Amino acid sequence: MLFTTPYLTQAVLSLILSATATHAFAYKRQATTCNGHAELCDRSFGNVTFVGTHDSYAVGTNNLAANQDYNVTQQLKDGVRMLQMQAHNQSGVIQLCHTSCALLNGGTLEDYLDSVKTWMDANPNDVVSLLIVNSDDIPPSEYDTVFKTVGLDTMAYVPSNASIPASAWPTLGSLISSGKRLVAFLTTEADYTTVPYLIDEFTNIWETAFDVTDTTFDCNVNRTNGDTSTQMYLINHFLDQLIAGFPAPDPEQANVTNAVSGVGSLGQQVQTCAAQYDKNPNFMLVDFYEYGGGSVFEVAATANGVTYNPSTPIASPGGTSNPGSTGVTSSNTSGAISDLRVSHSQAGGFFAVLGGVMAGVWSVI
Ligand SMILES: *[C@@H]1O[C@H](CO)[C@@H](O)[C@H](O)[C@H]1NC(C)=O
Ligand SMILES: *[C@@H]1O[C@H](CO)[C@@H](O)[C@H](O)[C@H]1NC(C)=O
Ligand SMILES: *[C@@H]1O[C@H](CO)[C@@H](O)[C@H](O)[C@H]1NC(C)=O
Ligand SMILES: *[C@@H]1O[C@H](CO)[C@@H](O)[C@H](O)[C@H]1NC(C)=O
Ligand SMILES: *[C@@H]1O[C@H](CO)[C@@H](O)[C@H](O)[C@H]1NC(C)=O
Ligand SMILES: *[C@@H]1O[C@H](CO)[C@@H](O)[C@H](O)[C@H]1NC(C)=O
Ligand SMILES: *[C@@H]1O[C@H](CO)[C@@H](O)[C@H](O)[C@H]1NC(C)=O
Repeated sequence: MLFTTPYLTQAVLSLILSATATHAFAYKRQATTCNGHAELCDRSFGNVTFVGTHDSYAVGTNNLAANQDYNVTQQLKDGVRMLQMQAHNQSGVIQLCHTSCALLNGGTLEDYLDSVKTWMDANPNDVVSLLIVNSDDIPPSEYDTVFKTVGLDTMAYVPSNASIPASAWPTLGSLISSGKRLVAFLTTEADYTTVPYLIDEFTNIWETAFDVTDTTFDCNVNRTNGDTSTQMYLINHFLDQLIAGFPAPDPEQANVTNAVSGVGSLGQQVQTCAAQYDKNPNFMLVDFYEYGGGSVFEVAATANGVTYNPSTPIASPGGTSNPGSTGVTSSNTSGAISDLRVSHSQAGGFFAVLGGVMAGVWSVI
């Protein structure tokens, strides 16, 4: 019926041809906006500054071990593009916990990655990095199982070598048009021969000191396993306070710590590091990212030579989902702490309980 006249045949043919052409074009299409800016499309991944959330899953207005006020979906919506997390083995399940799962349990890696996948599917022009702190040295194959369940394995970029210099990374545009726009780093156990998309962190990235409690935020190399002159680098820009001798996140200083300028600010550390190494940091990990009203994103935009101009305002400092919840709201006499917000005056009691949970460092990056 459709093919009864030459005219229709031609029409159908031209439809088929144009669909094919569109398909070919779409396949090779170069993204025109990359991570929100056209200017970033031609920029190597290794030459872009990204805001990252330290302990991105450690969300809560009710827990002293919380580093963030908003969940990963909100973080991504607001502009965070590196998500750092601590993975733990809880009875064979990979769970995101802060130091100890009794202290702060942010749920399973699978649920977390589901949120990341959902956001990435809805935002096809963004490159997102993960930094997985492999606290219990879980083998890559176990992560691979979770990535496959979630469907993120097929979105993960596979580098041409286990470690590549900053200058050898593809552009954001090519990561986006190839569909491989998830860049996943693992701190330990990475094995290029078995799971090549779980990229070894310290042969590719060096880091400044973490858990610092003074506002100097120097730019010296703290951890690496490679040639720092060619690696990308990450600054740990979150200020801890010492409570009963333990470093703990300090939300009260967060707007100063996250600021564009001033003593102890993110902007100041970027300037210090850029002067020292002649290039900006690639990743900047922060706590309570929304404090400063977008200042952390402004710092990144300035480093990237673009303008920070969000279309909608970012989340309000401190979180709105659970306002007014200060003070101890629950405790567990067996020593597990699940949902506490502890004011400074109550912190002594918190750490007395904590002492029963663990002996050792409080916050391991
Ligand atoms: C994440 O937080 C937003 C509000 O910032 C909320 O609307 C959304 O339901 C949360 N998602 C999950 C999975 O909790
Ligand atoms: C994870 O923990 C379970 C027991 O809870 C143990 O059997 C398994 O060997 C652990 N896996 C790793 C990789 O350590
Ligand atoms: C990866 O890089 C190392 C160090 O530069 C080099 O020795 C090795 O040949 C490279 N491997 C591949 C597969 O390119
Ligand atoms: C790295 O940072 C940690 C924590 O701030 C510190 O204890 C350690 O001494 C530093 N190591 C080096 C080599 O700078
Ligand atoms: C941080 O917040 C406090 C209290 O709201 C305010 O007084 C101060 O000016 C803020 N500092 C910066 C750098 O935004
Ligand atoms: C990117 O390259 C420019 C030009 O060399 C440099 O100024 C900037 O610091 C680089 N940024 C990063 C994150 O490497
Ligand atoms: C207290 O913590 C223990 C150990 O984690 C757990 O088995 C128990 O259910 C918790 N009780 C309450 C009331 O949360």
